[in-house]
Amino acid sequence: MNLPIRPRRNRKSSAIRGLCREITLSASDFIYPLFIQEGSDNEPIASMPGCHRWRVEGVLGEVDSAVQLGVGAVVLFPAIEDSLKTPKAAESHNPDGLVPRVIAAIKARFPEVVVITDVALDPYNSDGHDGIVAKDGRIKNDKTIEVLCNQAICHANAGADIVSPSDMMDGRVGALRQALDTEGHKEVSILSYTAKYASAYYGPFRGALDSAPKSGDKKTYQMDYANGREALREAALDEAEGADMLMVKPAGAYLDIIWRMRETTSLPIAAYQVSGEYLMIKSAAAAGWLDEEKVILESLTGIKRAGADMILTYFAKDAARLLGGHLAI
Ligand code: PBG
Repeated sequence: MNLPIRPRRNRKSSAIRGLCREITLSASDFIYPLFIQEGSDNEPIASMPGCHRWRVEGVLGEVDSAVQLGVGAVVLFPAIEDSLKTPKAAESHNPDGLVPRVIAAIKARFPEVVVITDVALDPYNSDGHDGIVAKDGRIKNDKTIEVLCNQAICHANAGADIVSPSDMMDGRVGALRQALDTEGHKEVSILSYTAKYASAYYGPFRGALDSAPKSGDKKTYQMDYANGREALREAALDEAEGADMLMVKPAGAYLDIIWRMRETTSLPIAAYQVSGEYLMIKSAAAAGWLDEEKVILESLTGIKRAGADMILTYFAKDAARLLGGHLAI
């Protein structure tokens, strides 16, 4: 064949593929989500094989092993005892609560580790919603924001580097920025869950924290998964309100959203490979149906290629280990 242009020349050896590769994953891209609980034992999570709910001491060992692998950022998700859950979610801003104690413990031992906290009421709310529920069942936007501000200040006081509102109320980024600044926390960043979709992929996470809504669903605040333009509207608002970083969640089924956001903002973009995405890979691998290590790296590379700068993933340690081992691709 007279074929002067042959793209395969750029794929002819591993070294040439390395030279031509556009996207390289690194352990420093990852944010490792950690589930925490009170109590004396670390507990394996039945709905998320390979994950644990860590007690206060256990979490330090887990952070240490992540740091050893080059992962420098964690995000905390607490499982709160039922007796502490109330309609107004007062435990969400208890300075002696589980989250502030774990933040302080991590920062005391690993000052350089980036500690991110989830700002939302669902672990603390007896209704299981991210916001305060009115008598008629509706989620009260502005009332919720008052509590979220107290929660963010509580986390900042304990030493959090980044607060991350995952509640999807309107106007919360601007309110959090103002509340943090007023309290002298000008250096604390906001990583906003900008485009958080009402997704069935969160199912295993809610099992892990026992945080599913007691009635109704989250569709009046989380986004309709059929919508793309709406994500850009949310991104413009979050940026104007002072967000430092934007997030798309879930990741794998929303790569187009990451890409569209990448084209319209200069802010760093995070993507969350959520519990359902993790379990789809884990369970298929456990059944012997696909190669876990290869699919971990392929799924994360795809998310980065779509435009994410950082990725929240339960595979953070596994992926970092694989990258350290220079797995050939
Ligand atoms: C709640 C929150 C959820 C997740 C992170 N923060 C669940 C929800 O919105 O119901 C999901 C994470 C995952 O599925 O891995 N504020």
